[in-house]
Amino acid sequence: MTRRILLIVSGGIAAYKSLELVRLLTKADYGVTAVLTRAGAEFVTPLSLQALTGAKVYEDLFSLTDESEMGHIELSRAADLVVVAPASADILAKMAAGLANDLATTLLLATDKRVLVAPAMNVRMWQHAATQANMKLLAARGVLVVPPEEGPMACGEFGPGRLAEPPVIFAAIESALGQAGPLAGRHAIVTSGPTHEPIDPVRYIANRSSGKQGHAIASSLAALGARVTLVSGPVNLPDPPAVTTVHVETAAEMLASVEAALPADIAVCAAAVGDWRVEAAAQKLKKGAQAPTLHLSENPDILARLSAPGPQRPRLVVGFAAETENLEAYAKAKRARKQCDWIVANNVGGTGIMGGESNEILLVTEAGAEAWQLMDKRAVADKLAQKIAQVFS
Ligand code: CTP
Repeated sequence: MTRRILLIVSGGIAAYKSLELVRLLTKADYGVTAVLTRAGAEFVTPLSLQALTGAKVYEDLFSLTDESEMGHIELSRAADLVVVAPASADILAKMAAGLANDLATTLLLATDKRVLVAPAMNVRMWQHAATQANMKLLAARGVLVVPPEEGPMACGEFGPGRLAEPPVIFAAIESALGQAGPLAGRHAIVTSGPTHEPIDPVRYIANRSSGKQGHAIASSLAALGARVTLVSGPVNLPDPPAVTTVHVETAAEMLASVEAALPADIAVCAAAVGDWRVEAAAQKLKKGAQAPTLHLSENPDILARLSAPGPQRPRLVVGFAAETENLEAYAKAKRARKQCDWIVANNVGGTGIMGGESNEILLVTEAGAEAWQLMDKRAVADKLAQKIAQVFS
């Protein structure tokens, strides 16, 4: 069956790359309907899009004179996925605000399909608090994001803002549609990164987790067709393409976001959740005669909550165990204590120090323990995702 993409091309020098994206899509037998915003039409012509899609190109609300031919509601619903590439700061702001003042934004407000955006803009516009707040809002609503890449920009500056390359956007489209992947139709929740537990308004307790392993697992599961919700603590990593990323700071926020994302078929708890939270001071602590005493209380255990029997328990719950000694014994004990199905144990002592690029894994399941050789974190993620897919095959 032909899958249909509604491609919205908004303004920006990167708009020319949308032609390459259309070429990749049509080559892979997607049907593409293109909508060109007024600003987009400054950079690519409707004729070139029409030649590549082989279909009528829609330009603005008032060119849809013949509503009976295909009204804007119908246009947005006939697609399997709505893609905005490039997505300018302007169209992202309009999406966040729910504006509908031209054809593209009307379609975006009227659609009941998933929306994937590939932003492209000047680095300062991308980093502006307004754009970042809009991105956060859109991600929280389930909009998929193919983050911009870093590099020299047409405006002469350097930094994140360049439109992702068309093959990257194409791959994100494929995984958003769960193309024949073994995990198509499955929902996976992945936790990743550290948590920050505030001590006062300027200080916090954290740990060395980089989030690399959890983010890689989210990507690998999405690549196998799963719909993935990634709940991430503060990390220095871009949001993975084709994954819904929810950003949190504390363990309590992480638990709330995980619970809000349920139900799920799969849960992978890769986050290094802070075990304790501090009774945080409302004002910045000042130096005095005596050092302050921090009062700690235990955080909720997200993995244990997910693993507890009940109607919302995901079919497969996977936990991590970062240990510095007695790896197998501790991992087995942790699996039993937390009631999860698998434990991915790794040695974080010595060379396996947290935050690195590779991991040496011991996978503990009901069947026993299986040692994996030292691998790049992405390879670990792929192997784990494949193993998970076997459970659902
Ligand atoms: N975990 C969690 N919520 C917590 C603590 C841990 O979801 N509040 C999850 C982690 O994401 C990981 C697993 O539990 O998947 C193991 O975390 P770890 O910190 O190693 O386990 P602890 O229970 O804290 O055991 P210990 O610190 O005694 O080793």
